[in-house]
Amino acid sequence: MSIFDIEHNVENHFVKNNPKYLKMVLGTDDVMPLWIADMDFKVAPPITEALNDIVERGVYAYEDISEQVKEAIANWNLKRHGLELNPNNFIQVNGVLTAIAVILRALTEEGDGIMIQTPVYHQFYTAIKTANRTVVENPLKIENGHYAFDFENMEEQLKTGNTKVILLCNPHNPVGRVWNREELQKLVDLANIYNVIIVSDEVHSEIVFSNSKFHSILSFEKTQNHIAVLGSPAKTFGMQSIANGYIYTENKAQFETINSLVTSMYLHQGGALSAYAILAAYTHGHDWVDALVVYLEKTVDWIEIFLKTELPQVRMIRPEGTYQIWLDFSALNISERELKDLVFNKAKVGLALGSTFGTDYQLFMRMNIASPLSKIQRAFQQLKAAMDS
Ligand SMILES: Cc1ncc(COP(=O)(O)O)c(C=O)c1O
Repeated sequence: MSIFDIEHNVENHFVKNNPKYLKMVLGTDDVMPLWIADMDFKVAPPITEALNDIVERGVYAYEDISEQVKEAIANWNLKRHGLELNPNNFIQVNGVLTAIAVILRALTEEGDGIMIQTPVYHQFYTAIKTANRTVVENPLKIENGHYAFDFENMEEQLKTGNTKVILLCNPHNPVGRVWNREELQKLVDLANIYNVIIVSDEVHSEIVFSNSKFHSILSFEKTQNHIAVLGSPAKTFGMQSIANGYIYTENKAQFETINSLVTSMYLHQGGALSAYAILAAYTHGHDWVDALVVYLEKTVDWIEIFLKTELPQVRMIRPEGTYQIWLDFSALNISERELKDLVFNKAKVGLALGSTFGTDYQLFMRMNIASPLSKIQRAFQQLKAAMDS
C-alpha cells in the first residue's frame, strides 16, 4: 500500500470541500469534490517536520531565510531539469497569480494584448481583465490526436502588434500537454520576431509522466527575448495554502521593473512558516515527488482502461503531465445544463466546468486526480452508473 492510497478526513473549510463554494460553483454540495486543483494527500514528511520545528520554537520574530530558499529552488532546478539558475534572479511573491498580476502591471500598459492558448486555467482570463489588459485568445487545435499550438493564428495575431505578452502554461492546465522542444522553439522564435515577452507559468512542471520531458522556457536561447518564468511548490507538494510563488528573469531591466513594483507593494515579505516549508520541500522532497508522479501515472493508466472498456462515451486525450484530466462528454449529445445535471446531481461527482476554461468547451469537464485511486475509481463508477441509468 502506498502513502497516497490513504484517504484522509477532509475539512469543510478546505475550499475544495466547502459547501459554500460547492453550491456557488457547482450548484450543489452533495458531490465528491474533484474540481479545484488541490491534492487530497498529506504533504511530504520533511515539510511537516520543518513546520513542527518552527511551531516548537515558538518564536515568530521577523525572519529572513530568502537566500536559503532561493538557493534551494535553484538546486532543485539543477538536479531535476539541468537548469543553471542564478539565485539572485528570483523575485518572491505570495503566489503564481500574484506573479502574473504584478508582471502584467510592470511590463505592459493598459489595453495591451495578452495572448493565452485556450482552453486554459480560468484565472488567466481574470488576471488579464482585472489588470485592464486585453485577452487575446489563440485556441489550441487538435493535431495528430493531441492538443497543439495554432502557430498560424498565433502569427496572424502577433503581426497586428497589439500583443505584448504570451502567457504560456507549461505543462498546460487543463489539457495536460507538456510542450516539446520543437514547439517551444517555434514559440520562442515567433516571440523574438514580434518582440513579445513570454511569461511562462511552470507551476505544474514537476508532474510529468514517463513518456514526456519537461523543457523550461529558460532552457532556450534567450538573448533577444524577454522571458519570465513563474513557479511555486504549491502544486508539486500539495501545499497550496502555505506556498509562495516566484518569478525568475535574467533580463536585468525587466528584473528591476518587476522587483521595484513588488517591493513597493511589500509583496515579497512572505511568512516564515511558508519559507521553512518551501525550503524543506525543495531540499528533501525529491523521493516523495518521484513516488507521487508514479502514483498519478498509474491512476491515469487505470482511468484510460476504464474509459475504453466501461465508458467509451467519455473521451480523454491521455495527459502528459499535471494531475488534471480533461474529459470530453460531447459524444453524449446533450446540453451543458443536462451534462451538469448528469455529473453533479445524478453521479454526484464535482468536476470543474469546461466552459470556465474557454469558449466552446461547454461539454468538457476537468477532473483533479490527485486523490487516492480508490476515490477516483468510485467517481468513475458513479459516473458510469448515472450514464447507464
Ligand atoms: C497554471 C496555474 N497557474 C497558477 C495557479 C495558481 O497558483 P497560486 O495559487 O500560486 O496563485 C494554478 C492553480 O491551479 C494553475 O493551475
